[in-house]
Amino acid sequence: MTYATLDDLRGACLQCEKCGLCATRTNVVFGVGSPQAKILFVGEGPGENEDLQGEPFVGRGGQLLDKYLTAVGLSRATNVYIANIVKCRPPHNRDPQPDEQDACMPWLRDQVRLLRPQIIVCLGRIAAQKMIDPQFRVTKQHGEFVKKGDFYMMGTFHPAALLRNPANKPDALEDFQKLREVAERLNLL
Ligand code: URA
Repeated sequence: MTYATLDDLRGACLQCEKCGLCATRTNVVFGVGSPQAKILFVGEGPGENEDLQGEPFVGRGGQLLDKYLTAVGLSRATNVYIANIVKCRPPHNRDPQPDEQDACMPWLRDQVRLLRPQIIVCLGRIAAQKMIDPQFRVTKQHGEFVKKGDFYMMGTFHPAALLRNPANKPDALEDFQKLREVAERLNLL
């Protein structure tokens, strides 16, 4: 099925039953942000708050993410879009399994096709290993931009990991500052 707009795609995604996570979800968490965004953030999957509210990154991790976005002049209201590898919450916040990730990836691919971002930022290991490199190591490779096909891609720390390990916060801020520089260089802002 080919969808003409993000809203059409969202409508179909909200009905999805392609993997077992649909049985335990409250809401499908499709994505949020500006449809004009040229920067796409990709997380792992919804947690409890996201499942309840139907929006990505609305818990404590989300507040931290918004802080980093604000620090470099970005926001989900104006110039970024935020989505996840899996759109439904894995029970007890376990990692999404490979078969669940594979079942859900066509939704993200369609989001990318419609949004046509120029930069994709992966939040945490699960997203970076799925989108950038199966061997991606966040501690070693965070903040490194790589050109993959049409996209500049970068992986950084997952906000929940930063809450657990605040020592990495300065490095995370540097990654966002680098993101700002690359976005400016590409005239995206
Ligand atoms: N963690 C994620 O990876 N995504 C969300 O939307 C919320 C928490």
